[in-house]
Order: sequence, then structure tokens, then C-alpha cells
Amino acid sequence: MKISSSISLKPFNTFGIDARAERFAVLRSEEDLRAILRANIAPLHLLGGGSNVLLTKDLPGLVLRNELKGIELESETGTHVLISAGAGEVWHDLVMWAIDNNFGGLENLSLIPGTVGAAPIQNIGAYGAELKDVFEKLEAFHLETGERMVFKSEDCRFGYRNSIFKNELKGRCLITRVWLRLTKSPRPNLSYRILADSLRNKGITQPGIRELSETVMEIRRSKLPDPALLGNTGSFFKNPEVPVQLCEAIKKEFPDLVAFPLPGNEELVKLAAGWLIEKAGWKGRRIGDAGVHEKQALVLVNYGKATGKDILNLAQEIQADVKEKFGVSLEPEVNIW
Ligand code: EPU
Repeated sequence: MKISSSISLKPFNTFGIDARAERFAVLRSEEDLRAILRANIAPLHLLGGGSNVLLTKDLPGLVLRNELKGIELESETGTHVLISAGAGEVWHDLVMWAIDNNFGGLENLSLIPGTVGAAPIQNIGAYGAELKDVFEKLEAFHLETGERMVFKSEDCRFGYRNSIFKNELKGRCLITRVWLRLTKSPRPNLSYRILADSLRNKGITQPGIRELSETVMEIRRSKLPDPALLGNTGSFFKNPEVPVQLCEAIKKEFPDLVAFPLPGNEELVKLAAGWLIEKAGWKGRRIGDAGVHEKQALVLVNYGKATGKDILNLAQEIQADVKEKFGVSLEPEVNIW
């Protein structure tokens, strides 16, 4: 395994930010991992697909890109299969593999950028599904103790775009492999209105998982910029959860506010951050090469030469403005390095 010096991270983050890593290596095997730990270079920054990170500076120490591969069918019952995938597999490749085998559960999560190992870190979700719905366990390596650990679903403390790996264990565990339980008799999850409407408009009433996946991809492509063409990391902020009273107060002035109930919670509602940002006048705006996407205000984009600090400044201006106009605090979904 090769450890390179002074490497541009531009090809390794989907914002396309040109920050540098003091040292850089690619992890392809357990042997590589042992060699890395022996080299004892600090600090260590763990990178998957680079699709949920904003680089605001050059990184000292070692940036390690996880490319541990391999998809396996581990076991099966009459109704379900247990599969596993190396943390460095591309998430969408795993989704396609599952669909090719007619294993259901991942189709609503089609085309989410990033790797399999990054998926549990923020409990990826889209169109009415979340990783936690199919998650069985993961294997990780504790970087400080050198311990090999297994995390079951409850150990991961999954929440909305959240897990233990974004909190207590942030940057301390290297996820090596993930196990998922999928169904052999898929039933379409049409709980997300936009998805159900799209299928109905196409005249599809009982979609199979491939049709569902294709429709999810169409919706994503129509709203979300392709990182290969325009640097971005999907939603930059989380949809905020606010007290019902605040939601009602905003609705008095803006009756078209988009808000969703939180099942089992009477006190809080979830607001569409994209709506708040658009209403505050930011959709399509640009400060230098940092911009707010013209079709989805929750997505910040790099028009070419933006630095991580430019994107962060834009994000902070949006946060301050939304706070002032609506009294709502927006929290980044993206990891800021
Ligand atoms: N909206 C606006 N203006 C905008 C954007 C959205 O008014 O510029 C309103 C729309 O009217 C819509 C509502 O906000 O009613 C929700 O919009 P959308 O369906 O596009 O979803 P989102 O809440 O903006 C979330 C996830 C996405 C995920 C979609 C679909 C978060 C932070 N984002 O976005 O995830 O693909 O739902 O499930 O939860 C990501 O995490 O990177 C991501 C792209």
C-alpha cells in the first residue's frame, strides 16, 4: 500500500473542493489497515465517497479512502436474505445488485451518492425509506483501542440523518463491512407522496422494485444536480424539527409553509428546510462560485472555483437569514472538516 504526500482531494469530494491532504492512502484490505496503523500517522481522516463532507482547509496527517470491496449473500430463509458488503462498495452499485437479484428494501434509496460504509454513519434516507429499516449489523475497527467491534442496530443509535458514528464515535471507528436484511417478496414502499404521484402519472399502479428504483432515479435527476457536472453534497442542511407553536406562528404569515407531523410526537413538527430557504429568497442565488441550487434550495453547489470557506460562508448567511426571518435554526447535514 502506498502513502502519497501532498495530494489534492478535489477528485475525492463531490463538492469538488481543491483542498490538500498532507498524506493520502487507499485502503483495500485488512493488511492495508494494519500497515496504516503501524505507520501511526495522526490525525487520521476517514473518507468514503466524499459525498457528505465539506473541506474548509488543507488536512494535516493522513486521509484514508476506504475501498474495502465485496458483496456476499450470507444466508437466507424462506422470506429474507442476509447480505453483506464491504464498506468501500459504492452504495448505488449495491442497490443495483439487490434489484438484479430481486431482493427488496433498497430500491427507494437508489442513486444516493457515497459508499456502503458511510450509509450507517448518517442513516441515509430518501423517499420514505431509511437505512435503519434494513440494517442488521456492521463491523468496525476502533482506531484508538485497535478493537474489532460489532454494532447491532440498537448499538448504532440511529436517528434522522444521525447515529453514534456522528456523535460519541465520530472519527474513531473505521467501518469495514455492513450486513443488511432484504426481502425475497418485495412490496413497494409508496409512502412518499411525490413518488406515489410520479408512478401514478406514468400509469403504474403496482410497481416492481426495478420500476420503483427507476422512478426514484428520475425524481432525483430532475431535482438534484449530478456531482460529476456540478459540485454538491445533496441536502446541505437537515429538515429542522420545531415546536408546533412556532410552526403555527409561521403559518399565520405564510399559510403555504411545508410541515410534516412526526409520528408519535405531539410537540414537534418537521419543516421543509428547502421551503424556508426558498422563501427567504436564496434559491438560485450565488456568491462568487458558491451557490444555492436553482431547483432545490436545500442543495448548495460549487460552480467551479469555490473554496470550502466560500461554501461555509454562504451556508452561514443562509442560517442567519432563516433564523431572523422565521426563528428557525438550520443544522448542517454535511460533515464540515
Ligand atoms: N421545497 C421547497 N423549495 C425547495 C425545495 C423543497 O419549497 O427549494 C419543499 C417542496 O415543496 C417539498 C418539500 O420541500 O414539498 C420537500 O422537498 P423534497 O421532496 O425535495 O425533499 P427534501 O425534504 O428537500 C429530503 C432529504 C433528501 C431526500 C428527499 C426525498 C433531508 C435533509 N433531505 O429532502 O435527502 O432525497 O427528502 O426523500 O432530509 C440528502 O440527504 O442529501 C438528500 C438529498
